[in-house]
Amino acid sequence: MRLPLRSVIDLAGLVAQQSLSTVDAYAAKEIPAARAGLLANIGHDGGKSHGALPGLVVASPSTQNPNYLYTWTRDSSLVFKPLVDQVTSGEDPSLRSLVDSFITVESKIQQTSNPSGTVTSGGLGEPKFNIDGTAFTLPWGRPQRDGPALRSTTMMAYGNWLLDHGNTSFVQTTLWPIIQLDLDYVAQNWNKSTFDLWEEVNSSSFFTAAVQHRSLREGSAFASRLEQGNLTLAYTSQADRALCFMQSFWNPKRGYITANTGGGRSGIDANTVLASIHTFDPSAGCDATTFQPCSDKALANLVTYIEAFRSTYPLNSNASTSGALATGRYPEDTYYGGNPWYLSIAAVSEQLYDAYGVWANASQIEVTSISLPFFRRLLPNITIGTYASGSSVFTSITAATRRLADDFLALHAKYTPADGSLSEQFDRSTGAPKSAADLTWNYAALITAFRARDGRVMNSWGARGLHASC
Ligand SMILES: *[C@@H]1O[C@H](CO)[C@@H](O)[C@H](O)[C@H]1NC(C)=O
Ligand SMILES: *[C@@H]1O[C@H](CO)[C@@H](O)[C@H](O)[C@H]1NC(C)=O
Ligand SMILES: *[C@@H]1O[C@H](CO)[C@@H](O)[C@H](O)[C@H]1NC(C)=O
Ligand SMILES: *[C@@H]1O[C@H](CO)[C@@H](O)[C@H](O)[C@H]1NC(C)=O
Ligand SMILES: *[C@@H]1O[C@H](CO)[C@@H](O)[C@H](O)[C@H]1NC(C)=O
Ligand SMILES: *[C@@H]1O[C@H](CO)[C@@H](O)[C@H](O)[C@H]1NC(C)=O
Ligand SMILES: *[C@@H]1O[C@H](CO)[C@@H](O)[C@H](O)[C@H]1NC(C)=O
Repeated sequence: MRLPLRSVIDLAGLVAQQSLSTVDAYAAKEIPAARAGLLANIGHDGGKSHGALPGLVVASPSTQNPNYLYTWTRDSSLVFKPLVDQVTSGEDPSLRSLVDSFITVESKIQQTSNPSGTVTSGGLGEPKFNIDGTAFTLPWGRPQRDGPALRSTTMMAYGNWLLDHGNTSFVQTTLWPIIQLDLDYVAQNWNKSTFDLWEEVNSSSFFTAAVQHRSLREGSAFASRLEQGNLTLAYTSQADRALCFMQSFWNPKRGYITANTGGGRSGIDANTVLASIHTFDPSAGCDATTFQPCSDKALANLVTYIEAFRSTYPLNSNASTSGALATGRYPEDTYYGGNPWYLSIAAVSEQLYDAYGVWANASQIEVTSISLPFFRRLLPNITIGTYASGSSVFTSITAATRRLADDFLALHAKYTPADGSLSEQFDRSTGAPKSAADLTWNYAALITAFRARDGRVMNSWGARGLHASC
């Protein structure tokens, strides 16, 4: 296997070499398994999604304990983003027709009246639908306002590529009307209360605000490409307000991002790590205003998040002070007993690979008073300062960051069954898979983590050089 340059640097340490080979072996086996697992859960050809409309993502084929045989807008959009990326990068043009079915089915879902409303009266905030595209009408935590933002982000990634390739007619007639509905919903509703991504807390939520901000920001540029001048301005003005609001989630005393304004918990939550990776913009460097993966605030938040699980799960009882820990949604979680989630662990590794990727191109790394606890976990004797590319400290930081990211994937591998299947969670004491089998989002989360490890760069969305003027 051809090793990229950064891996050669890693070979400096024996530990690095071991976790490298573990993770390379895992990649060889698990990336194809995750892809197959993901595609099996997309209608109607997927082997585990019988009865689902074409292009519709089933959250999990599990029909009892728990019943996840529904489609969630959030999960579906996060699952399709890496598929779109594989089409637009030219890696896998064969996925294009599936992406087109996703657009068709999501357009139908947008138009389906549901307990949150009609397409023009709030219905876009409805979190989940039946797999035949009809409304789910039982009580639920609704609305969840991250869905339209994530869906528009996935569709704009495709739309920008189509425009780059001269396919303006499809974008104008088919894609833009769908995207505009979602963006208008976000522009009009982002400042209202919402259930969080775990469908439990009704308040304001960092993940929701961050993905809304991203969608409005890239929506403004997308509208501009389509010469929609008024919308360009309208989306930017709401994006500016949302960016300002995002700043209020930072907890300066304790050095982390508080996930929700309600909920009565610590607020330490994978919500914030997921927000950082799903709003990664490599052109923004280590900008803290948008909480980029290598920003001091996002790194401080990451170490607080990771360490919160050390004493929470018996599985972590013998873990080293510097290596990976099993992490879950939030330490107070009691759902199925409160356990590590595969997608949280993948998200930690992805944030670290994203940070590594930006630093590898940077002329220096800054260690601030905010990020010091993160860097101390990597290198116990490091001090606040600026370390130039080529210096031994710079090289140690980048190597240790990649090593830690690999260590999280090695831990993920340790608790993944031999057949490569990923349930929602694994037991906090025994490590045995728990809850819904074949969680589609888990497969997508692992795929995006490995894509970050491979240095596949995410598309920019306009995060560079933003200022929060509150
Ligand atoms: C534009 O893209 C759509 C969606 O994939 C496709 O159906 C159509 O054939 C494309 N048009 C051209 C001219 O390539
Ligand atoms: C709306 O925005 C204002 C100003 O940033 C903020 O104080 C308020 O908490 C927000 N409310 C919701 C529900 O997002
Ligand atoms: C969510 O919170 C808002 C604001 O406090 C409230 O108006 C709304 O009724 C709540 N929704 C539910 C379902 O509890
Ligand atoms: C854009 O805004 C201007 C000024 O408010 C208004 O006159 C015009 O009708 C708007 N255009 C569209 C397409 O909405
Ligand atoms: C931790 O170490 C103790 C003592 O060796 C052992 O009994 C226990 O099973 C270990 N726990 C885990 C989760 O590895
Ligand atoms: C790093 O630089 C290379 C070469 O210019 C570029 O292809 C890559 O996208 C950059 N990566 C990031 C994360 O900015
Ligand atoms: C870190 O500092 C401690 C105490 O000053 C010292 O014993 C140790 O050798 C240092 N470690 C490294 C890697 O420099």
